Amino acid sequence: MTPSIAATTLLSLVTLSAFHPASAKCVPPKEAHFNWDDVEYLIAFGDSYTFVQGTYGYPNYSFIGNYLPGELSFTPTELLSNRIVQNFTGTAEGGPNWVEYLTGCGVEPGEHLPSDCAIQLWDFAFAGADVSEEFLPLHHNFTTPLVNQTAQYLKWAEPVLGPRIEGRGTNKKAEAALVAVWIGINDVNDSQSKKPANITFQDFWQAEIEAVFSESVLPLFGAGYRNFLFVNLPPLDRTAANQVKSNPSPSKEQVGWWNEILANRAREFAETNQGAKAMVYDANTFLNGVMNRPEQYGITNLTYCPDYAQLEVLTKPEEYGCRPLDEYFWYNSGHMSSHTHKIMVPNLIEFLEAQST
Ligand SMILES: *[C@@H]1O[C@H](CO)[C@@H](O)[C@H](O)[C@H]1NC(C)=O
Ligand SMILES: *[C@@H]1O[C@H](CO)[C@@H](O)[C@H](O)[C@H]1NC(C)=O
Ligand SMILES: *[C@@H]1O[C@H](CO)[C@@H](O)[C@H](O)[C@H]1NC(C)=O
Ligand SMILES: *[C@@H]1O[C@H](CO)[C@@H](O)[C@H](O)[C@H]1NC(C)=O
Ligand SMILES: *[C@@H]1O[C@H](CO)[C@@H](O)[C@H](O)[C@H]1NC(C)=O
Ligand SMILES: *[C@@H]1O[C@H](CO)[C@@H](O)[C@H](O)[C@H]1NC(C)=O
Ligand SMILES: *[C@@H]1O[C@H](CO)[C@@H](O)[C@H](O)[C@H]1NC(C)=O
Repeated sequence: MTPSIAATTLLSLVTLSAFHPASAKCVPPKEAHFNWDDVEYLIAFGDSYTFVQGTYGYPNYSFIGNYLPGELSFTPTELLSNRIVQNFTGTAEGGPNWVEYLTGCGVEPGEHLPSDCAIQLWDFAFAGADVSEEFLPLHHNFTTPLVNQTAQYLKWAEPVLGPRIEGRGTNKKAEAALVAVWIGINDVNDSQSKKPANITFQDFWQAEIEAVFSESVLPLFGAGYRNFLFVNLPPLDRTAANQVKSNPSPSKEQVGWWNEILANRAREFAETNQGAKAMVYDANTFLNGVMNRPEQYGITNLTYCPDYAQLEVLTKPEEYGCRPLDEYFWYNSGHMSSHTHKIMVPNLIEFLEAQST
């Protein structure tokens, strides 16, 4: 008896709100709605490709907090006064990265409050992160894995930022916020030596990407976020080291496996969660295109300057036998140059505009 009474009550409520103009406003939109022009907040998660230095962050690794016991948390005041640092060590590529170029937040040298930016960048990516400790060991005991970055966000940042986003003009959280996730770079590399032997790469990465959606994306969806941008793997099969190997590690095929699993899982997420928009930006195709025709992008060298870590190399590259760092595709063994991040962004914006309705 009880279930049918509950069902009847629910049905009448749904019917009522569907025909009642005042309460209709409260019904979440059934169709996904995304428009890049409406985005005022970029909430980012991932690894070193996405990390930005914060004044409350772990030096060289994060915007705020770290994975050591008790250090994931922060106060509202710490969050709102935390500044993005743009300097030689402010990112993993010696200059602005893709989320900074995409938002225009923190591009100039110095310190920047996210709340001063036209598109606010709230970045919980942690350099060296994998998806979860469940699959691969931490790079360091302070490394916050992706599933814990989103939990950190939901526990300590969402209560502060959520109401601010809801309160901005007529935009709802669902429209004004875009969640960005770029993960898998460390996972695919670490898997080469640390994956359990009794599982295939495909099954291992399927399980990892399942965890991305069940432990990170769905909880964010539950908190009201609707628009999600996923970035697939860059050409890790074409790092400087891999260019001279007959068997690159990871291989092009492996990079393709991760990217295919990601694309399928993102599609399934959007199909099974009404109102969700899951966009997968194909960084891999764009960046392979850059590597195939580097001269079109001002790139003269597809490896990197060995002395990239010297501060002076930025201003006097010739003293280190290098070209200006902006002429290199890679910054070092695993990271793309800041210039490569920069040239990807117009292509990404084109993609986001094509996804807009
Ligand atoms: C951050 O990285 C730079 C460049 O590699 C290094 O010189 C510096 O010591 C690092 N800072 C900390 C606190 O580890
Ligand atoms: C960059 O800024 C951080 C944080 O303010 C500081 O600790 C670091 O020394 C700076 N690095 C350089 C190369 O100026
Ligand atoms: C983290 O690792 C460092 C260096 O290995 C070690 O000194 C420190 O005690 C560790 N901290 C914790 C809480 O395990
Ligand atoms: C990190 O996330 C995993 C998966 O949800 C969880 O089991 C673990 O307890 C979290 N770690 C911390 C320190 O919160
Ligand atoms: C693989 O081995 C681990 C123990 O090392 C075990 O826990 C797991 O169930 C095994 N997985 C499969 C698919 O057999
Ligand atoms: C690319 O740069 C590296 C490091 O500066 C250098 O050793 C190499 O010769 C350069 N390659 C080309 C094709 O210029
Ligand atoms: C990949 O992993 C190996 C072994 O753990 C490490 O030495 C290397 O630096 C990593 N490469 C990249 C590109 O992160």
